[in-house]
Amino acid sequence: DKLVVLICGGGNGAHVLAGLAASTPGAEARVMTLYADEAERWSKSMETNDFVVSVTNSDGSVEDLKAKPVLITKDPSKAVPGADIIFFTVPAFAHEQYFTAIAPYVSSHTVLVGLPGQAGFEQQCVFILKDKAKQCAIVSFESLPWACRILEFFKHVLIQGKKETLGGSVIMSGCKPIAQPMELVQRILGNKPVVSEIGNYLVINLLAKSVVHPPIMYGKWSKWDGKPFDSKPLFYQGVDELQARLLSGVADEIVATAKAIEKQRPSADMSKVNHVLEWYRVNYADQITDNSSLFMCLKTNKAYDGLVHPMKEVDGKFMPDFKYRYMTEDVPFGIVVMKGIAEIAGVPTPNMDEVMHWCQKQIGKEFIVGSKLCGKDLDSSRAPQRYGYKTIADLFNIG
Ligand code: NAI
Repeated sequence: DKLVVLICGGGNGAHVLAGLAASTPGAEARVMTLYADEAERWSKSMETNDFVVSVTNSDGSVEDLKAKPVLITKDPSKAVPGADIIFFTVPAFAHEQYFTAIAPYVSSHTVLVGLPGQAGFEQQCVFILKDKAKQCAIVSFESLPWACRILEFFKHVLIQGKKETLGGSVIMSGCKPIAQPMELVQRILGNKPVVSEIGNYLVINLLAKSVVHPPIMYGKWSKWDGKPFDSKPLFYQGVDELQARLLSGVADEIVATAKAIEKQRPSADMSKVNHVLEWYRVNYADQITDNSSLFMCLKTNKAYDGLVHPMKEVDGKFMPDFKYRYMTEDVPFGIVVMKGIAEIAGVPTPNMDEVMHWCQKQIGKEFIVGSKLCGKDLDSSRAPQRYGYKTIADLFNIG
C-alpha cells in the first residue's frame, strides 16, 4: 500500500517537503494550498515543468532531486481523504484555516504534523478537530528541518542547509497510525536531520524560538524618538546589553515555568527546556566567536550577519515595521502562549509582561491586563486559557 502524504502550504518549506515526499519510495505526495491562486499556478506549472529540490550537502556540493506531487489543489475534499500523514508547513497564523478545511474529511489514525508547529499548535488542533483529534496523532516539531528558499515558484527550491537533529512531541492516545509517527517523518525527510521525540508538547511550546523576537523589538523600539533611520539597524548583532538582559530574563521565566510544571507533575519530563543562552551555545557552536554571555552570543553569531530590523521605507528613510511577523505572529503564537503556560504553572513573569504590554499596543491588541492574561483579544491568540485550560492537569489531558 502507498503511503499517502499531504502537504499543507505553498511557501519555501512546503516546496521542499513536496519534493521530498514525492521522491520517497512507496509514497504519493499531494499538496493543498488555500492561499490565493497558488494551487492553480502550481498545478499549471507541473504540466510543463519538472519539480526540483536542490540539496546542499555539508561539503558544499549540490544534488538535485526531481519528483512531482501527484495532486495540487485547494479543495480539501480531494486532498484529504486517504491521507496517512498531513504536514502543516505554513506560518502559524494560517494553521486555523487549514485545520478548519481538513476537519470534515480527515479520518482517524491520521498523523498530523506541525513542521514547525509553533506554540499552541496542539491546543488549536484539538479545539478545531474536536473528537477527531483524539483519534489522530498530533506531532509538533520545534523548527523547520532546513534553511530553504524558493528559487523559482512551483518549479525549483533550494535547501541551503539541513539541521543535524530535530526534536518533536507526539500526542497519540487513541491513534493507531500505519507506522510510528517519528518513523514516518524520518522516512520522508531522509537521513538528516535525525528526528527524535522530546518530552511532551509543552516542552516544544516552551522551546519555540519565536520568543527571541518580541523582547528585541521591545528593547530596540520602546524608547525610540520616532525619527526615521538612514539605514536598517542590525537585528541580533545590534542588541545592547539591556536588550540582552531582558531576553535573558524572559528565558529565565521559561525555565522557571518548566521547573514548576515538573514539580507539580513529577512524571512530566521537562528537562529539555533550556535557557536560550544554552541553546545558542549548542546550536551555533561553530558560528559564535564569543559565547561568554547571551549579549556576546547575539553580537558575534555569524549566522546573523546582515540580518536587520523589519523596516518600511518612507521617503528614502526607514521606519520600523510593527506589523511584521516578529510582532503579529510571534506575540499571539509565541510569547502569549508561553505566558499562558507560566500563568497556569503559577510562575510570575515580570519580564514577559513588560514586553507583552508594549508589543500588544503596537499591534492593536489586548492580551494581558496588569499581569493576567484576560485581555479582550485573547481569543485571537493561542494561549491555553483561550481554549479553557486552567490547570496543569488540563494541559496534560489534551489528547
Ligand atoms: P513562507 O514564508 O514561505 O510561507 C509563505 C506561504 O504561507 C505562502 O506561500 C502561503 O502558502 C502561506 N500564506 C502566506 N500568507 C497567507 C495568508 N494570508 N493566508 C493563508 N496562507 C498564507 O514560510 P516558510 O519559509 O515555508 O516557513 C514555514 C515556517 O517555518 C514559518 O513559521 C517560518 O518562520 C519557519 N521557518 C522557516 C525557515 C526557512 O528557511 N524558510 C527556517 C526556520 C523556520
